[in-house]
Amino acid sequence: MSTQPILRLGTVKTVGGFQLHLQSLGLTIPCDDTLLRGTESPLRQPLVTGDIKIGNRIVVHPMEGWDGSPDGNPSENTSRRWQRFGRSGAKLIWGGEAVAVSHEGRANPNQLVAAAHTEEGLSRLRRTLIEEHRLTTGSDDELLIGLQLTDSGRYSRPNAHGQPEPRILYHHPFLDRRLGLPPDFPLLTDAEIEIIIGNFHKAALLAWKLGFEFVDIKHCHGYLGHEFLSAHTRAGRYGGCFENRTRFLREVVQGIRSVAPQLKVAVRLSAIDSVPFHPDPAKSSNGKLGPGIPELHESEIPYRWGFGVNALDPTESDLDEPVRLLSLLEQLGIRLVNITAGSPYYNPHLQRPALYPPSDGYLPPEDPLVSVARQMEATRRLKQQFPNLIFVGTGYSYLQDFLPHVAQAALRESWVDMVGLGRMVLTYPELLWDATEGRTIERKRICRTFSDCTTAPRKGLPSGCYPLDSFYKDSELMTQLTIAKKH
Ligand SMILES: Cc1cc2nc3c(=O)[nH]c(=O)nc-3n(C[C@H](O)[C@H](O)[C@H](O)COP(=O)(O)O)c2cc1C
Ligand code: SF4
Repeated sequence: MSTQPILRLGTVKTVGGFQLHLQSLGLTIPCDDTLLRGTESPLRQPLVTGDIKIGNRIVVHPMEGWDGSPDGNPSENTSRRWQRFGRSGAKLIWGGEAVAVSHEGRANPNQLVAAAHTEEGLSRLRRTLIEEHRLTTGSDDELLIGLQLTDSGRYSRPNAHGQPEPRILYHHPFLDRRLGLPPDFPLLTDAEIEIIIGNFHKAALLAWKLGFEFVDIKHCHGYLGHEFLSAHTRAGRYGGCFENRTRFLREVVQGIRSVAPQLKVAVRLSAIDSVPFHPDPAKSSNGKLGPGIPELHESEIPYRWGFGVNALDPTESDLDEPVRLLSLLEQLGIRLVNITAGSPYYNPHLQRPALYPPSDGYLPPEDPLVSVARQMEATRRLKQQFPNLIFVGTGYSYLQDFLPHVAQAALRESWVDMVGLGRMVLTYPELLWDATEGRTIERKRICRTFSDCTTAPRKGLPSGCYPLDSFYKDSELMTQLTIAKKH
């Protein structure tokens, strides 16, 4: 890593200054000088192909809030978040947030669940979003809303005591150690996997009945779907060769096609990854986190626990298998793909580039713009190889004031088909709508990647933008977070 301090983007006042900064880092990130308005803007072009009609190129990524009720129903805070998703003006709502297909598969005791007793709650979220969307854009024409379906696998923590209850597919030398799992910790059996696949089918049918037009079969961020892809060392039908590692995906899709044939299927994929990172112990002291370094032993090479990872140099990505997976998606008739990276648990810098780390993270091991460029470049390369798939790009929030300029250029230069907002949607959901309406950008609302929306759930609190959204900033939860951060 360069010894230069990382330049805070909030101090860069002009697009020209930002472009020079990119040059000084040797990065190729497209960035337009001026923003186009209304239908002139690439961000406001509809995307119409086959039976898919999306009114513009703005996407809201799934953003969970750790704020559902113990039985998996949405709360008032959940509803507020979905309302703000609607306010963004985005015509593609990629999943809303991760919704578990069973209680056991919840990542936390406040995650939403798709089940008979949550039908009304989930339906209300959708309606709230649509009403607010109409207020922003004037109509709900060509608005596509999906539900993200998940099983949290290794990261399951479903019950009120908040303790991990991992459900793993194989033993991972580093991730097992982090969870304190003994070598004889039981793996999910093939029979248990078949039950989970059935849960996905039931949840998809429920989503269809509630009016969601697609479901995302989550294959990212270290959760179960993603873990299947790296199950090289697992024996039996669901591990080993590529065909076995993708059997879960194929069986989930087949079942959905039979119970809800008109429901579209989408996949959010961690297409690139790396080994887990941890704070450099030599540079961490007095509770202060050091810069991230790879947690890697030479004896673990070739690395057999990754997907989209170069086995001989696992700090680097390798797109060979992700390319095979996208070919498979095409064969399965899946067209909507959302490209993301790594995992927030073991290499957050890759997944959500930030200047300030979450409490369980580490200082950035590289300029976060390098991390943004990595996700953008991987997506560009995949898009080039699969022109018929619809690619949603991720990791743009770190671009801050220059997000609209980069998003416009990335679309114009066909790096990607649609641009998604993650953390930015928590602070300033209307950013791209305002930018394309020619309104003045409200700089005070721009996400500065303080990571409190990640730290709060790590401390057992609901997520939200505590530094910038007065709803959280002025609440009792803020006091709790401040205390929790000291411990
Ligand atoms: C608080 C929080 C909640 C998230 N919830 C989800 C989720 O439910 N499902 C998912 O696939 N990704 C989730 N993500 C990841 C984001 O969708 C996105 O990939 C990530 O924040 C990077 O995009 P950004 O730079 O625009 O923030 C979450 C991220 C954060 C910070
Ligand atoms: S807490 Fe707010 S400013 Fe910080 S990363 Fe999350 S959304 Fe951005």
